[in-house]
Amino acid sequence: MADLFSKQQQASGPVECLGKTFPSDTARREYFLKLLAEKLKDPAFRKIEGFPSGSDADILALSDPPYYTACPNPFVEEFLRHYGKADDGSGRYSREPFAVDVSEGKSDPIYNAHSYHTKVPHKAIMRYILHYTQPGDIVFDGFCGTGMTGVAAQLCADKDVVTSLGYRVGRDGEILQAEDEDGRQVWKSVSKIGARFAVMGDLSPAATYIAHNYNSPLDGETFDRSYKAILKDVEHECGWMYETSHSDGRSKGRINYTIWSDVFSCSHCAGEIVFWNAAVDKDAGKVRDEFKCPHCAVELTKRNIDHVQTTKLDGSLGRAITQAKKVPVLINYSVSNRRHEKIPDAADLALIEKIESLDAPYWFPSDRLIEGGETRRNDPVGITHVHHFYTRRNLLALAAYRSRGVDSWAPFNALTPRATKMHRIAASRLGGEKKGVGGATVGVINGTLYVPSISVEMNVLDQAVERVKVFSKALFKSRPTITTTQSTTDFRTIQSNSIDYVFIDPPFGSNINYSELSFLWESWIKVFTNNEMEAIENRTQAKTLSSYRRLMTSCFGEAFRILKPDRWITIEFSNTQASVWNSIQTALQEAGFVVANVSSLDKQQGSFKAVTTTTAVKQDLVISAYKPSQDMVEGIARGGANAESVWAFTRSHLKHLPTTRTNQNGLEFIAERDPRILFDRMVSWFIRNNLPVPLSSQEFQAGLAQKFIVRDGMIFLPDQVSAYDKRRSQISIAPQMELFVSDERSAIDWITDYLKSRPSTYQEIHPEFISQLGAGWKKHEERPELSDLLEGNFIKYEGSGDVPSQIHSYLSSNHKDLRSLEKGNPLLIAKAKDRWYVPDPNKAQDLEKKREKALLKEFEGYQAATGRKLKEFRLEVLRAGFKAAWAAKNYKAIIAIAQKIPEEALQEDEKLLLWYDQALTRTEAGA
Ligand SMILES: C[S@@+](CC[C@H](N)C(=O)[O-])C[C@H]1O[C@@H](n2cnc3c(N)ncnc32)[C@H](O)[C@@H]1O
Repeated sequence: MADLFSKQQQASGPVECLGKTFPSDTARREYFLKLLAEKLKDPAFRKIEGFPSGSDADILALSDPPYYTACPNPFVEEFLRHYGKADDGSGRYSREPFAVDVSEGKSDPIYNAHSYHTKVPHKAIMRYILHYTQPGDIVFDGFCGTGMTGVAAQLCADKDVVTSLGYRVGRDGEILQAEDEDGRQVWKSVSKIGARFAVMGDLSPAATYIAHNYNSPLDGETFDRSYKAILKDVEHECGWMYETSHSDGRSKGRINYTIWSDVFSCSHCAGEIVFWNAAVDKDAGKVRDEFKCPHCAVELTKRNIDHVQTTKLDGSLGRAITQAKKVPVLINYSVSNRRHEKIPDAADLALIEKIESLDAPYWFPSDRLIEGGETRRNDPVGITHVHHFYTRRNLLALAAYRSRGVDSWAPFNALTPRATKMHRIAASRLGGEKKGVGGATVGVINGTLYVPSISVEMNVLDQAVERVKVFSKALFKSRPTITTTQSTTDFRTIQSNSIDYVFIDPPFGSNINYSELSFLWESWIKVFTNNEMEAIENRTQAKTLSSYRRLMTSCFGEAFRILKPDRWITIEFSNTQASVWNSIQTALQEAGFVVANVSSLDKQQGSFKAVTTTTAVKQDLVISAYKPSQDMVEGIARGGANAESVWAFTRSHLKHLPTTRTNQNGLEFIAERDPRILFDRMVSWFIRNNLPVPLSSQEFQAGLAQKFIVRDGMIFLPDQVSAYDKRRSQISIAPQMELFVSDERSAIDWITDYLKSRPSTYQEIHPEFISQLGAGWKKHEERPELSDLLEGNFIKYEGSGDVPSQIHSYLSSNHKDLRSLEKGNPLLIAKAKDRWYVPDPNKAQDLEKKREKALLKEFEGYQAATGRKLKEFRLEVLRAGFKAAWAAKNYKAIIAIAQKIPEEALQEDEKLLLWYDQALTRTEAGA
């Protein structure tokens, strides 16, 4: 499309680019291509991580510098110099963490113009960009995929799109959002209209090529004119391949699609079985699990029969190949816009034969698929090379479009998976046209290279017309984005502290093997992902969950470095595995970010709620984290690890948290303001910065209560609390933390909350406690006895002396007859006796010390257990042990114990994993 763009610009005269003026856009492109060609000769440049594989000529052909390069983009720095602005250091920037539904806008034509293995709609990203940035700010996405972040950044300048999201735009460009305040709707300013500049990167050339095409300016007229010509030419050349004769014997039909079926051999009589004929129940519209051999009537299933193999000469490979036999079984075609169906007749078979034997006039890819679980899954049926994924007819048609040059390839590139044998028929259409309604075909199974037994050969020419139409709806006028092809582990081309906001949707563990899936696309553009740094779990690439975490830590490390202090990163991902989620969180913290909120989308309510534990539940998650301010970091570095540095961190962290948040039930509990979560954040930050943790949990909690303001169990800064109080005064019920009991620690937290609101006897609390210990309990964690937890962490009033104030205030407010009695009153004492309660801070610290001692003793027991793996243990013991070993710089002890416990137990625990990773880093560094 760059070429089309050039023609358009040529017509409109001189262009300005990065401060230089060129007589035409072609001259601009030529100028930068020359510089890029020079740069490609530089060995240091080629060492940038993620440098793709492809010849220089192919990289240059695909690139449209400075805006896009199919290799690391050497012009990013200049782009940032030109468009970026230095942080004025005024500290005026302040935002709260933000989370909204990331699936908004999935039916938008722009979003749908080009598919990808997973995508986040640009409309959802726009809300994030509007929240965190102002016009002219630089947004970064280092896992850009199809470039939706760039599209979102551009569309922040489009008033119609912004208002379509429910915002209002004032005359001065102020963007306003409706908020509920004191029962009325008020419009509050949230941002300003205007484009933001996007810097996008991805490891995959297929991704960046799509991203670039999404983000290039084109005017509709030029686009239509040029593409009309291409479509017409290829129709002229290839139209005959999609013709069939109508049943009237006179009219010609246009093939919409042809269904192909696998052929199997009967395990009993060796007769050939066309799967479509034998197994598809056309009346019911489904494939039968069991079916009869048409020759010997024996009952068969697909599992106990083999494919019939055919051997033929593969001209591209210059040798004979053996493949599973597939035959055409049904043709769907149109005559004068009316659809019909037929079983292929002799003429149709002859046409297919003829096309098979044609010499290809144009180049098409015939690469061997790379090693991999997905890429090699079709080897047993002989689909080993890229061209085997296509029928000869579709291959030739695609090759005809490709022959027009890579500059005009983008809309056809979108077709390359849909035009393969991976395309499936809709179940509703198994019975034929008359059976079903809606689309006949359902595309490929996302995230796989699976070729079904019954596949659909789409008419590529008609699909191309459709794609061009869709693309023409996704055209832009401006160009404030730059795209680069490289690994986010290495962004040496970007200076530190130069980005205003980061939005990313990173790979998620082993969910999707991007480089394998993109191989088909990349073979058409001739530049391939260098998957050495690909951040996934993958057996072929010998990447474990730990490799994934290390790669993600490097990527986050670069994002952290280039982000300005006090600015935000949003990480969106679809969770299925607790260990992968934990890896992401750990990687983020190891990189230096401080997590300020984790939210998950409640699909039923359509709202977001805070999440405090990593679980294996499938959900869309949004993590908001920030880069701490320079002042705070430098202050702590100067002062070292002491109580004051803990409070400096806490003050800074509280500043980044929301003061109020509402949901359908009223005020929401802001989990990040809970003292226990604040403690965890503080500990992670100190460990990550290689500092000993100066305060124990109880010392920290006692200090919090003295230094900050506590409301409903949440901690606030003095200047934050009035906003909370105002909201709170309108609501009668205090918000409460939702706790999910999954291990000993969360069980203690649950008991704390329970006893705080109602000091209780063992008998009272026991049934409630048991009901919390459900299916979510961690696999290797020992189940604690309630009595042990009470003994170790709480105090029982034995009935002698004054009734403790915790019990006294509870009883007097809940029992009329006990109201206003003295603490020594026998009635009150009798009612208070044997109740467990939460100790006051001093006593709590004593208990904590005692408990820690016991935990460390048990840890020594774990250490002494030589030569065997620990199957069941207490995570609290491990955490206490790791913490003590960390403080003593005894990293080897951490590593030794980590190797004794099951991998998943380590991977799923945020604290253990952080200590372990840091211990590994220290020992690797020879510390
Ligand atoms: C979930 S996808 C992003 C999809 C994107 N949000 C969209 O809407 O199209 C994750 C991307 O990360 C890329 N990736 C994997 N490892 C990478 C690395 N080390 N550096 C940069 N990109 C990487 C993959 O190629 C893939 O495109």
